[in-house]
Amino acid sequence: MERTFVMFKPDCVQRGLLGRILSRFDDKGLRPVAMKMIRVSPAMAKQHYAEHVSKPFYPGLEEFITASPVLACVFEGPEVVRVVREMLGATSGLKAAAGTIRGDFSSSRQMNLVHASDSPESAAREIGIYFTPAEIHAWEPSLSCWLQAPGEA
Ligand code: CMP
Repeated sequence: MERTFVMFKPDCVQRGLLGRILSRFDDKGLRPVAMKMIRVSPAMAKQHYAEHVSKPFYPGLEEFITASPVLACVFEGPEVVRVVREMLGATSGLKAAAGTIRGDFSSSRQMNLVHASDSPESAAREIGIYFTPAEIHAWEPSLSCWLQAPGEA
């Protein structure tokens, strides 16, 4: 069982798409174990996007991600890091395949609605920026015997 960090970005909240996009995570059977609405500070943005801070697009990215509240989440599931990245599609909504979240709802490279960790190591780092261990609540769905066959996970 793996965990990933997912952020529903300011454009997702402002466009009223939270419910529709969250429902895709429910439909897939991914388990939310932490969720909170926060306003990302410039310091948090620099920590989260440390690998992008020196890139030309970073000032615009920081302005965007701090402009309005976001919903920060942790999801749990088998191979959840890869599964969620595939659900999101390519970074740019213009390049993302139809049927993916970005492919269906975004036409922008920056305003691509949802962020998700790109590896289990990034997930651990990003979860640590936004959540304390006490804010993460593991739970077992009573339907798990209908989501996967025994021994599959
Ligand atoms: P995300 O998956 O959150 O990871 C880094 C973010 O930077 C990305 O989604 C986009 O929002 C943004 N981003 C990546 N590349 C570019 C780019 N070339 N121009 C503008 N924003 C970008």
